[in-house]
Amino acid sequence: MARVFLTRTVPGTAADRLEAAGHTLETWPGELPPPPADLAAALARADAVIAMVVDRITPEMLDAAPRLRIVANMAVGYDNIDPAAAAARGIWVTNTPGVLAETTADLAFGLLLAAARRIVESDRDTRAGGWKTWSPTAFLGPDVFGATLGIIGLGEIGEAVARRARGFKMRILYSSRTRKPALEADLNLEYRDLRGLLAESDFVTIHTPLTPETRHLIDAAAFAAMKPGAILVNTARGQVVDQDALVEALRSGRLGGAALDVTTPEPLPLDHPLFTFPNVIITPHIGSASRATRARMAEMAAANILAVLEGREPPNPVNRPQNPRS
Ligand code: NAP
Ligand code: GLV
Repeated sequence: MARVFLTRTVPGTAADRLEAAGHTLETWPGELPPPPADLAAALARADAVIAMVVDRITPEMLDAAPRLRIVANMAVGYDNIDPAAAAARGIWVTNTPGVLAETTADLAFGLLLAAARRIVESDRDTRAGGWKTWSPTAFLGPDVFGATLGIIGLGEIGEAVARRARGFKMRILYSSRTRKPALEADLNLEYRDLRGLLAESDFVTIHTPLTPETRHLIDAAAFAAMKPGAILVNTARGQVVDQDALVEALRSGRLGGAALDVTTPEPLPLDHPLFTFPNVIITPHIGSASRATRARMAEMAAANILAVLEGREPPNPVNRPQNPRS
């Protein structure tokens, strides 16, 4: 029977299912990720691994893992591993698409509302004793209802955000790799190229994967193209935004605010300039963090592993090894 490495304790029934199938589990203890040397050592003895987005698995680690047959990411994103490098070594890489879209869209829309209506900032002020009276001028922000939302990357999460925005009667623009006429008609979306979207949007929300094409997609030129006072929401990956340019756009007052679930690096050091802006909200990469969704993600990862260990194709591959290891 196989040896499965879990880089963290995962919720739900995933571990039970793997054990019920007769596999031996090795689970990294504690909340912090295994340091690279420990990750490499565990991969070297494993047939399969459930990995998190923060577990960077290098080609060198794969070279030193002769039995490894599958890296099952407990995430939809897979920028922590090179799928082609894994495929070249006969190793499957899988992800957890779809199952986390609604939960992550909830967070993205929550961040948008919180940034617009200054919820975190005013809570912080209230706790510090700042609430003296009802004020006609305190904590004013833009309306969300009726405003223009720009969605960059209209995939599972981007679409789920658009559905939420419809309830707020927002005008919805999107920019994506491919146009989606059916969704345009269904959700009343307007396609724009990136510059057009940035120029017209009161709120911009990012939902692309991190790839060589999307790295620093939102750079200094993009901030300059944005509507003055616009608010940026990023629940995709920190590196899709040029963070130095973001700091400058906040410092100059060009950007009205930013709400970030993802940063570069993660965690963001407490002395980072982003923490000095009252109009910035930072959450610790919790997009998919509902109890039910995280359990389902782990169970999907386990299902992918069980398929590969039983000699079947996994249900959620992001690569396709020519000669899968057996
Ligand atoms: P998805 O369904 O694959 O959607 C991604 C969308 O981005 C697709 O529609 C895609 O292209 C578009 N895209 C890809 N490259 C692009 C480019 N160069 N320019 C413009 N658009 C591009 O993925 P998803 O489930 O929505 O997730 C999106 C990302 O969110 C993940 O990759 C992950 O990094 C991040 N995420 C974060 C959290 C969190 O906890 N904060 C949780 C889940 C996911 P098409 O237009 O061709 O369809
Ligand atoms: C989380 O960041 C994911 O990609 O699922």
